[in-house]
Amino acid sequence: MKKALVPGTFDPITNGHLDVIGRASQMFDEIVVGVAASAKKKPLFSLDERVAFAREATASLGNVTVQPFDDLLVHFAADINANVVVKGLRAITDFEYEFQMTAANYRLNSDVETMFIMSPPQYMYLSSSIVREISSFHGSVEDLVPACVEKALKARFAE
Ligand code: COA
Repeated sequence: MKKALVPGTFDPITNGHLDVIGRASQMFDEIVVGVAASAKKKPLFSLDERVAFAREATASLGNVTVQPFDDLLVHFAADINANVVVKGLRAITDFEYEFQMTAANYRLNSDVETMFIMSPPQYMYLSSSIVREISSFHGSVEDLVPACVEKALKARFAE
């Protein structure tokens, strides 16, 4: 049974994340989407909300489950018996940060392998903060996020 962890803060989950999760779900028997508490990032959406969005957006993928975590990534990966971490790589600017994180995680637990999936061109520039920024000025994020997230962003920034 090949099980992989797709981690992130997912504040909120975007179609770029869903592209990575969908591709990974075709390569592994089981995918756990790990939603990090990431309190230091002061997320716009609560952990419960971010988990709920990820669950709704991945409901059609039979081998994908979503779990929150508030721990080191390698500890969570061990807890759920996943020895592969899958992350998206959007542009060269992601590389240095991801290289550093991968090296740190490898030092903590060399049994956990990190794999990267290149984002397709339409999602190369996409990030959760870009989505939050567009929404905060009431711009459309229709093609960038799943419907449940679009609705929640509209409600949040109408307040
Ligand atoms: N599509 C769209 N956006 C993407 C993306 C994709 N395919 N891949 C990355 N992004 C975006 C994210 O939305 C995020 O955007 P934001 O900064 O605007 O919110 C940004 O790129 C960074 O993504 P990522 O590197 O995955 O960071 P993250 O905050 O989403 O998640 C964790 C990082 C949770 C994986 C990391 O903090 C972690 O492992 N935390 C646990 C504690 C730990 O072990 N720390 C490391 C010790 S060495």
